[in-house]
Amino acid sequence: MTHEISCIVMAAGKGTRMKSALPKVLHPLAGKPMLSWLLDTLMALAPKNVVVVAGPDMPGVEAAAAQHMVVIQKDRRGTADAVKTALPLLHDFHGDVLILNGDVPLVGAHALQALATLRRQSGAGLALAAFEPADPSGYGRVLLREDNSVARIVEERDASPEEKKVTLCNAGLYCVDGARLGAWIAKIENKNAQGEFYLTDIVDVAAREGAQCVALRMADAGEVAGANSRADLAILERAVQSRLRHAAMEGGATLSDPDTVYFSWDTKTGCDVRIGQSVVFGPGVEIADGAEILPFCHIEGARIESGARIGPFARLRPGTQIGAQAHIGNFVEIKKSTIGMGAKAGHLAYIGDASVGADSNIGAGAITCNYDGYNKHKTTIGEKVFVGSDSTLVAPVEIGDGAYVAAGSTITRDVPGGALAVARNRPIIREGWADQYGEKKGKKG
Ligand code: UD1
Ligand code: MG
Repeated sequence: MTHEISCIVMAAGKGTRMKSALPKVLHPLAGKPMLSWLLDTLMALAPKNVVVVAGPDMPGVEAAAAQHMVVIQKDRRGTADAVKTALPLLHDFHGDVLILNGDVPLVGAHALQALATLRRQSGAGLALAAFEPADPSGYGRVLLREDNSVARIVEERDASPEEKKVTLCNAGLYCVDGARLGAWIAKIENKNAQGEFYLTDIVDVAAREGAQCVALRMADAGEVAGANSRADLAILERAVQSRLRHAAMEGGATLSDPDTVYFSWDTKTGCDVRIGQSVVFGPGVEIADGAEILPFCHIEGARIESGARIGPFARLRPGTQIGAQAHIGNFVEIKKSTIGMGAKAGHLAYIGDASVGADSNIGAGAITCNYDGYNKHKTTIGEKVFVGSDSTLVAPVEIGDGAYVAAGSTITRDVPGGALAVARNRPIIREGWADQYGEKKGKKG
């Protein structure tokens, strides 16, 4: 018989220590909210139910958890109170209940499965994940008996100086026998420094009812670190980035200096992709096999086809597609535009709301004037078009296949294929003018 799992994710805390208008569990790691990292991981366990406990003023948390059951914990009287709020939704569930801190986002499905397996195989009433962080301060300490079962968890605020010396900490991840969870939660009191109902007291309550608590010791402390402050968040971000960098390299990408490349949770990189130093990816980037990103680029919402070369110092914004073998050079910004196969924009250009056909060349300083102060308009550039340097293409406008736009032109009308468009003043050249001017000013030529 397979053992069913249900999950309660506690996410109602205000996160006071974050000093933020944003609920703590919505703070992102690699662009994805902490809560979503955890909820996505839970999907791998195929849980029967997932109940997310949100606060009364957290529409963002409710939205992030929308595909699950959400309950509102009105008074936020502690983690045991959060679980109590969720229990009515699991009233007829007697399998394993995983109870998870919403601010411990990086735990893997493997560890959670191991926690449930340990509880069942040991016959214990509950199991919890324990770890030894580099700095235990702030965490609840796990006090063990001689037989290594858990005697009690003591929160740091309530711990004696001796107890504070204990280095084994509570990760905030628990697996409890669903048949007994409700009865134990009901017996938790709030006689502690914070006057809160601590879920951690469940160990003591269960022991008094003859049930044992076992600890799963986590070897990788980074996997179960919690985020209570911005400094904690920065540590988790570093861990996430390290994972993403390794995954990209495992997938066949070369990172010249991995520590300087910042990925989004969803960045997709193919094999033989090369990424230079100091590149930042926002959400929604896909890089096909063999494409190269040179140093100092900022890229979000873009698909880059194979063999394309981007940067250095290029900025690709959402809605951008760069065709195979295309080249986007330094100080080029592209937004919501399609760049055809083999097309080039080598230097200093803005291409917005445009399509550029295959093998076209966009000269240095060329600009698509896509905005009239009220609306955005489209620029359509055909194949093998030559757009000379410092041209401004005032959208809506269309440049036909094979056309030439002379450097410095301001194009306000469509240009047919194969035509030359020149829209600039002819130069006036006055020979000998400079000397005459100098004489007038009383200077020697
Ligand atoms: C908690 C544990 C501590 C453990 C640490 C691990 C308790 C009492 N302490 O401390 O032993 O070492 O996690 O990271 O559980 N929440 C609610 N409703 C509430 C209060 C909290 O939903 O009324 C949620 C929070 O949003 C958060 C989670 O529960 O996601 C944990 O709360 P938090 O305040 O972060 O507890 P810690 O002090 O970190
Ligand atoms: Mg916490």
